[in-house]
Amino acid sequence: MADLSVKMAGMDFRSCIFNAAGPKDVTLKELETIGASRSAAITMKSCTKEPRQGNEEPRYYALDMGSINSMGLPNLGYKEYVKFPSLLKSFGKPVIASVSGLCLEDNIQILEAFNDSEVSAIELNLSCPNIKGKPQIGYDFAQMDEVLKEALRISKKPMGVKLPPYFDFIHFEEASGILKRRKPAFVSCINSIGNALVIDAEKEAPVIKPKGGFGGLGGAYIKYTALANVRKFYEMIEMPIIGVGGISSGKDAFEFILAGASAVQIGTAFMEEGPMIFGRVHDELASFMARKGYTRLDDFRGRLKQA
Ligand code: SIN
Repeated sequence: MADLSVKMAGMDFRSCIFNAAGPKDVTLKELETIGASRSAAITMKSCTKEPRQGNEEPRYYALDMGSINSMGLPNLGYKEYVKFPSLLKSFGKPVIASVSGLCLEDNIQILEAFNDSEVSAIELNLSCPNIKGKPQIGYDFAQMDEVLKEALRISKKPMGVKLPPYFDFIHFEEASGILKRRKPAFVSCINSIGNALVIDAEKEAPVIKPKGGFGGLGGAYIKYTALANVRKFYEMIEMPIIGVGGISSGKDAFEFILAGASAVQIGTAFMEEGPMIFGRVHDELASFMARKGYTRLDDFRGRLKQA
């Protein structure tokens, strides 16, 4: 049987497959469901300083091959998520906090609080496209550098960063320069492709309400952009990369690891299929590897051949 375990950022993961920050990970009950599933970690919803209701409904819409959302970071506020890791301990898997403060001061306060918690790692979310009046920090390289510098100075936990998708090689170079200088424990890429617009032709209206219908595109529509981002960063930086964007099968996971990912997260497909998806993708990846004669992820990680 293939060994899908991973050591990354000082953590041991039973497998390389776990949930992405976002879907069905807001409440303790939802996090317990992820804990009881075959997800190799429990990633919590991106948290802010104050609890948030999020944007107006409808704010999520399932599409044929993915989703569009403008959730607007509905969450219980960081004080709840600081308590949850000790309550989730019995599941025996890493608990990852996603931090998405609305300004640097908020991020600092939240990260300081997590220092005294039992959380295994932090994923600093610099890429939410859905907060009105707050551009994605991952597209403002000067701000990204500053935020990462301060956040890494404050956090005593392994801290990675969740990036938006990049589309131009010059932007990969700029982002890589910052990552090499600041050295987060890992990089998660990509967040949804921001500000897509899906229109219902019958209703002659967008399918979601916030921001005039503009929201983050997720699922299979973004898989190839996500793969490109994983590959580019794998070529340019030496740190673990978590691939996220459009993974819903073992073959998808295989492609991300072949591109250089150390692990993969599942977002939209978990939202649509529920917690059984983690075991299904695990078993499909194990079978795919067996068919190829691979027994460990390191047998093929990053080893993308030329066309
Ligand atoms: C949201 O809550 O709006 C989605 C989170 C994200 O895209 O980072």
